[in-house]
Amino acid sequence: MIERTLAMIKPDAVKKHAIGDIVSRYEKAGLHPVAVRMMQLAKPIAEGFYAVHKTRPFFDSLTTFMSSGPVVILVLEGEDTITRHRALMGATDPAKADKGTIRAAHGTNIEYNAVHGSDSADTAAFEIGFFFPQMDLPRPA
Ligand code: CDP
Ligand code: MG
Repeated sequence: MIERTLAMIKPDAVKKHAIGDIVSRYEKAGLHPVAVRMMQLAKPIAEGFYAVHKTRPFFDSLTTFMSSGPVVILVLEGEDTITRHRALMGATDPAKADKGTIRAAHGTNIEYNAVHGSDSADTAAFEIGFFFPQMDLPRPA
């Protein structure tokens, strides 16, 4: 099924000049960018985006990190894109991420892990709507 997911290149990866490498990995994997924004998130915007984690001990640190510098936000489209994008990203903790994944290549630790990706269709709909309010549905076939 053709679907869409939200990807974000986090401030650590932008600071390391890894935007080009990461976007190239999306394209080579057949995860086609159909929308892109680069911006610095205000802290309340990062808090809204990660609201699902607001009771977690890492919430304040995470949202401070996510608002510490510019991010690149993309909508990726393709066959089974949500699951295939998560596999390309690798595990949350870069030390546990498979070789060849984006987090293994560019992540530093469990917080500074280079990229974000929606983890389900419901999450993708929320996250795409959050940053791209007029494009929450896949392109008609
Ligand atoms: O990003 P992913 O879906 O793999 O992981 P998550 O469990 O949804 O956590 C969201 C983000 O919070 C992670 O990508 C990390 O940046 C951060 N995090 C953290 O700082 N410490 C943890 N123990 C777990 C996650
Ligand atoms: Mg998550």
